[in-house]
Amino acid sequence: MSTYTIDTATSRATPSPAPMKRLTAPAIMARKGGDPIVALTAYTMRTAQLLDPHCDLLLVGDSLGQVIYGLPSTIPVTLEMMCAHGAAVVRGSWHALVAVDMPFGSYEASPDQAFMNAARILKETGAAAVKLEGGEAMAETVAFLAKRGIPVIGHVGLTPQAVNALGGYRARGRDEAEANKVLADAKAVAEAGCFALVLEGVMEEIAVEATKSVACPTIGIGASAQCDGQILVTEDMLGLFERTPRFVKRFGDLAGEIAAAAEAYAKAVASRDFPGEDQIYRAKGDRK
Ligand code: KIV
Repeated sequence: MSTYTIDTATSRATPSPAPMKRLTAPAIMARKGGDPIVALTAYTMRTAQLLDPHCDLLLVGDSLGQVIYGLPSTIPVTLEMMCAHGAAVVRGSWHALVAVDMPFGSYEASPDQAFMNAARILKETGAAAVKLEGGEAMAETVAFLAKRGIPVIGHVGLTPQAVNALGGYRARGRDEAEANKVLADAKAVAEAGCFALVLEGVMEEIAVEATKSVACPTIGIGASAQCDGQILVTEDMLGLFERTPRFVKRFGDLAGEIAAAAEAYAKAVASRDFPGEDQIYRAKGDRK
């Protein structure tokens, strides 16, 4: 089954979606306590095409730093990378709301800085929302953007951009002080006006309590099935890596399939079985 249609007027395989046909930020917000929100990361046009029919939300996550660029963390990810991949994902989708991560250093200095860069992301990609990490310290910025027409997804708990401050990627909220901090962060950005909130790497009880305490839907990753939705890094979920974190469930074995296909290709080239009769061109009245 094709996951896209050819626009006969332009011959584009990825016609621009009709305005307002996509899920919107208010539509996602209205899912609080309803059917779970299905979200995945996407970084490329073709992946977006394949995921879009099954997802409510596609996140162009700054995890592309590690997944696509082989960087050691999300810290070096740039606005240019996010804009290029964000635009590709918008071109490959028409149903899901596309949100783009604001990379480290593009929003923390001030609400003004955040507005300028969030506006650039929306203009250059066609995405409908941005996501930014941080709790109480980012509440003012979330409110500033939300009041100026920029839908924001919050992200609290384990916030990978703060890896240097947190000292690693361990799940948050094991002791009472940390648990209270995660809850205070969740409430602060939700009250500031984010329309959805990612809860990453938190003890399950905290995710449940946060979900009950905030007005916007929570989207869990390493959190709880009681969240209002779930998100995973697509390449983790597809089994593209040998090692996956504890909270990832593999729904496929893409690494195995790619390795097997590459091995079969290598053998066919070595044995001169490829290209075969079906893959070569012959002029009419063959000169053979
Ligand atoms: O960057 C990312 O992919 C994310 C998700 C894991 C929530 O922020």
